Amino acid sequence: MYDSNPTLDGLTKKIDEDRQGEAFFQGMEEAGQRHFYIESYGCQMNFSDSEIVASILAEQGYSATRNMEAADLILINTCSIREKAEDTVRKRLRIFDQVKQQRPGTLVGVLGCMAERLKAKFLEEERLVDLVVGPDAYRDLPALIATAEDGDKGINVFLSREETYADISPMRLDSNGVSAFISIMRGCDNMCSFCVVPFTRGRERSRNAFSILAEATDLFERGYREVTLLGQNVDSYKWENPETGQTVSFAQLLDMVARVHPDLRIRFSTSHPKDITDEVLFTMKAHENVCKYIHLPVQSGNSRVLELMNRTYDREWYINKVNRIYEIMPDCAISSDIIAGFCTETEEEHQDTLSMIEFARYSMSYMFFYSERPGTLAARKYEDDIPLKTKKRRLQEIIKAQTAVSLAHNQQDIGKTFKVLIEGDSKRSDQEFKGRNSQNKMMVFPKQEGLKTGDYCYVKALEATSATLKGEIVPPPGL
Ligand code: SAH
Ligand code: SF4
Ligand code: F3S
Repeated sequence: MYDSNPTLDGLTKKIDEDRQGEAFFQGMEEAGQRHFYIESYGCQMNFSDSEIVASILAEQGYSATRNMEAADLILINTCSIREKAEDTVRKRLRIFDQVKQQRPGTLVGVLGCMAERLKAKFLEEERLVDLVVGPDAYRDLPALIATAEDGDKGINVFLSREETYADISPMRLDSNGVSAFISIMRGCDNMCSFCVVPFTRGRERSRNAFSILAEATDLFERGYREVTLLGQNVDSYKWENPETGQTVSFAQLLDMVARVHPDLRIRFSTSHPKDITDEVLFTMKAHENVCKYIHLPVQSGNSRVLELMNRTYDREWYINKVNRIYEIMPDCAISSDIIAGFCTETEEEHQDTLSMIEFARYSMSYMFFYSERPGTLAARKYEDDIPLKTKKRRLQEIIKAQTAVSLAHNQQDIGKTFKVLIEGDSKRSDQEFKGRNSQNKMMVFPKQEGLKTGDYCYVKALEATSATLKGEIVPPPGL
């Protein structure tokens, strides 16, 4: 998920940020081998990329360790989306510096979006860093490590128009063995004025559909029961088969992956409201195993602000899209990303965002205050003129509105029965399972003999908070 947001602390339920900064690990450490340690920040794409990096390093004889002090190579996969995300990385570098001083020879590498944004400047600013590697240059890691071992700095921030790492089988690190990410495209061709991603991830490109299908099939055969198709803008997925010249759209890809097996659940993220088509919605409806959940970030509920953001839709267009989704799939849940206090936003315009939360009935949202990013269109064209205090107050109001809507959304589910994929023990008790329903809501329920992680079961919701549904296992409907 996204980086943590300081203003959220103590204000609301913790959003699902559990994985920020998590160190990846994949089993036993073996003596005599070289070890790498990797921490990941930012979005799911970054976590997915870390699995590609791990796979590339494993080919070179490296194994993963969770113990930074034991690592020959310390990597940090970074995010630039907001200032806070970059601050977190800088703080982690201070810790790595201490480790390096105790263990000279340890290499420190910065990967991902911040590496891409700062390029060689990173090496000037942070003396401890040996490697700076952008998101499209991970294949070059072995050569860059060799350079660094020779005492030089290794840097590759080349952005590619083709790289999709299609042939690299990601090493599933620290997975629950049930759900996995599949990256289906890279980069972004939209130019939302607030956003740094087009600069850090480069041009949009789609991955070979057959390699996606092969990865989904392989995961299913290895016991996985849920895949999330990842991209900054999955609805603009478009792959042309070089042999036949035929193109595969996102709706077609969704259909293909849904046919891998009825017991393999499919999720996807993120959908741009301008690109999600009826064809995608009908494909979702047609397959029981395509989850009825759409992450459809609105950013702002006001048309003038949306125009400044260069989102290419207005309030009315977004409302029509939401109506269409509920019309085709009344049981679909919709979630959102929201930015408070974008340049020149007035109080009335902020009210439009609050009313959109009510209108769209989001099951949940990721909510942020605007953070100006160097080099973006907004940074060049507009003044970041909303005082921090006002941004934070508006964000609080947004969070308050969303928390109330989330609670009402969950309360409506009380008494209903859902098919749930068991993901493991609940956080609080090993007597309880946790798992998600199709709408991506976390359900917690007492265990029942004979059921294990990776199984499906039916759960009746009995109690709701704004974040979770508590329930009990019931027989499948119709039995
Ligand atoms: N590709 C996705 C989102 C990627 S970034 C999409 O288009 O929806 C994830 C979220 O971070 C964005 O949806 C936005 O809400 C937030 N975000 C991006 N840039 C930001 C900035 N400069 N300040 C605050 N929030 C930002
Ligand atoms: Fe950023 Fe917009 Fe692209 Fe999303 S669609 S990654 S917000 S530029
Ligand atoms: Fe962050 Fe890069 Fe993702 S900026 S949100 S890690 S694409």
